[in-house]
Amino acid sequence: MTPTAKLNNGVEIPVVGLGTSQMKTPAETVEVIKTALKVGYRLIDTATMYGNEEPVGQGIRESGIPREEVTVTTKLWPDDFGDPQGAFAASLARLGLDYVDIYLVHWPRGYTPPVWKALEGFVKDGRAKTIGISNFSIEETEGVLSYCEIPPALNQVQFNPFCYDAALLEYSKSKNIVLQAYRPLTRGERIGDEAVVALAKKHGKSSAQILIRWNLEHGVIAIPKSTHEERLKENLDVFDFSLSEEDVRSLDALAEV
Ligand SMILES: NC(=O)c1ccc[n+]([C@@H]2O[C@H](COP(=O)([O-])OP(=O)(O)OC[C@H]3O[C@@H](n4cnc5c(N)ncnc54)[C@H](OP(=O)(O)O)[C@@H]3O)[C@@H](O)[C@H]2O)c1
Repeated sequence: MTPTAKLNNGVEIPVVGLGTSQMKTPAETVEVIKTALKVGYRLIDTATMYGNEEPVGQGIRESGIPREEVTVTTKLWPDDFGDPQGAFAASLARLGLDYVDIYLVHWPRGYTPPVWKALEGFVKDGRAKTIGISNFSIEETEGVLSYCEIPPALNQVQFNPFCYDAALLEYSKSKNIVLQAYRPLTRGERIGDEAVVALAKKHGKSSAQILIRWNLEHGVIAIPKSTHEERLKENLDVFDFSLSEEDVRSLDALAEV
């Protein structure tokens, strides 16, 4: 079982989940979801914008894992800010679910307070267990907190040693908002970085595992994407070691933002 983190609404979610953007075909997506659930994933991250809610839902159904054991995230795309009700109902229909565990505002662009009010309505009518934001800055998060009735439980942002926003992390912790890291593996682009590889050698782990563990050491949830069974297993196999404070600091120093 993947360890969990408790959100500000009391809901517990796995600290490592599966990202699903840019999988090649619906058929591949169905198979990857089934494989991921078979090897132990219990959090699946999708979005209307990825165009894969249908195969994600199909994969969950075909996996045989009880629906209530899987944390399903989807997101509201800015084009739909004028009709969050319709967009949310359409997402549920595509997923084939009567509720999602987490519903996020995908981007702050064009976002207005009534959008958040609509999301709060989805919590009240039981169709979303948790609501949150994605790609929101400190200032934009402050805005939501100034009028919300239900505060966002998490903010999904790009988070890896090269894209390390310590101020946002500290601020989010102070507001009891969990950060969830997208692109935790830098889309594979910086996985061969010298400092990351050195730590991988030191710990007898892979670079991907080091990058995921760095997120966990910061109290950040990671949602790496992979379409390969071996990598899916590898990315979940990060609970038998830890990084020292010095290791973490050496990765923090790679920050470019
Ligand atoms: N909220 C947002 O705005 C937002 C934006 C971007 C992404 N996301 C979410 O975050 C998820 C993760 O981000 P991401 O997909 O952009 O990037 P990522 O998870 O950092 O990297 C995925 C890439 O790394 C490769 N990879 C996976 N495991 C590996 C391993 N163990 N060793 C070497 N390479 C490995 C994958 O290749 P293979 O698939 O070939 O294994 C893929 O090319 C997305 O899928 C999506 O769900 C959210």
